[in-house]
Amino acid sequence: MSGPRGETAGPVRVLVAEDDVEMLELLTRVLDEEGYDVLSAHDGHQALAKIDEGGFDVVLSDVRMPGPDGMEVLRRAMARRLHQPVILMTAFGSIGSAVEAMRAGAYHYLAKPFNLDELLEILRGAAEQIRQRRSLRDEAGDGAFPIVFRSPAMARLLALVSEVASSSASVLITGASGTGKELLARAVHAASERRRRPFVPVDCGAIPEGLLESELFGHCRGAFTGAVSDRPGIVETADGGTLFLDEVGNLPASMQAKLLRFLNDRRFRRVGEARERAVDVRVVSASNRDPVELAAEGRFRDDLYYRLAVFSLHIPSLSERREDIPPLVYHFIRRFNAEGGYAVEGVRQDALDLLSDAPWPGNVRQLENVTERAVILRKAGLLQPVDLPLELQSVGGAEPGRTLEDLERQHILQLLEECGGNRSRVARILGISRRTVYRKLRQYGVDSED
Ligand SMILES: Nc1ncnc2c1ncn2[C@@H]1O[C@H](COP(=O)(O)OP(=O)(O)OP(=O)(O)O)[C@@H](O)[C@H]1O
Ligand SMILES: [Mg+2]
Repeated sequence: MSGPRGETAGPVRVLVAEDDVEMLELLTRVLDEEGYDVLSAHDGHQALAKIDEGGFDVVLSDVRMPGPDGMEVLRRAMARRLHQPVILMTAFGSIGSAVEAMRAGAYHYLAKPFNLDELLEILRGAAEQIRQRRSLRDEAGDGAFPIVFRSPAMARLLALVSEVASSSASVLITGASGTGKELLARAVHAASERRRRPFVPVDCGAIPEGLLESELFGHCRGAFTGAVSDRPGIVETADGGTLFLDEVGNLPASMQAKLLRFLNDRRFRRVGEARERAVDVRVVSASNRDPVELAAEGRFRDDLYYRLAVFSLHIPSLSERREDIPPLVYHFIRRFNAEGGYAVEGVRQDALDLLSDAPWPGNVRQLENVTERAVILRKAGLLQPVDLPLELQSVGGAEPGRTLEDLERQHILQLLEECGGNRSRVARILGISRRTVYRKLRQYGVDSED
């Protein structure tokens, strides 16, 4: 049996960072037996250096180490390599640090002592994710459209994509606006044997009803006013490839009937022509309204629905798969850095918390826009809450800068300035004790604690 296979060809390469020599030896031996390649680091400095070098698929790091700790290793990995799963291990596990690690993008958090089987199970999950991503990436050629995810829901969906891609069966993709339907449609195409042939999108809602038939199926010269020459339709352009019918729920009834006929045998007639033609196309369609509901409302033919949805793939809303938010944010940071020449290194924990908890009605597209705006504002360093739109800054709590406490702080600090730093005068004006003034100034970090 061959071992788990990694992002680079060959076995999965695990970077193990652990300062306890015996533990490192044990992990190295066990992972080696399981068919993994092990790269080892004896402390945080070595771990960071290895991360910068790259060449691994998964990171397994102790949290407490001399030098930079596991959280720093995690942050560096997120900032540099972005998609490699990072698993943290610690003997000093607490719920708080586990949550912090997961939020910062850790793939998993293991409390020591742990069972080796548990570790191997987690590694198998990570290896499977790497394998799927790798096959999709390879099949997409240069990885122009990477699908970034960490949630089990998306992992399952992509596993389905690999399975359905090899057939020519019709695929219907549903999901709310901005969830990544077009991206997934491209992934289906890229993972299929048709990948070297065209992927042709048609926005069914954007073409005027009167033109739709001739756009899709073409026309011959003189078929109607303005048809000055023979013209092939979109389905012919897509021959051998994939026809992507976006917003298929918007197809007018007359076109639904014609499309159904075409789907029965992939045969059609150009408008105004008697001759029947045939093409070989795979049809992937997408809708952000549930077609079953549309059918119930009488706006979509049941029989067409069944034709289109031989396989149906539903993309959950981003709020149902919040684990995907941190890797998506890092993915977009990297992309906008490259596009705009910025040097943003990552996102500060408090900003990542806001992003992780936001409602995201516009799903991934909205997250993409918010990240782009933040990268443009911040330019370098770590993204911070102030770089996010106001409505995100106030998620789940009072608006920052507007609470009673905030007003009190602003007022006291302003008075302090007006009184030239004289704390007794501030106390007199406010009608409170000097001790209270001192306490508050310590809280605000104006005075030191001792
Ligand atoms: N998992 C993902 N990884 C990386 N990028 C993603 C992911 N999901 C969505 N995106 C990006 O988010 C944006 C929206 O995706 P896409 O256009 O595929 O969504 P859609 O569901 O077709 O939206 P709409 O319903 O508005 O047409 C695109 O820029 C896409 O690249
Ligand atoms: Mg779309």
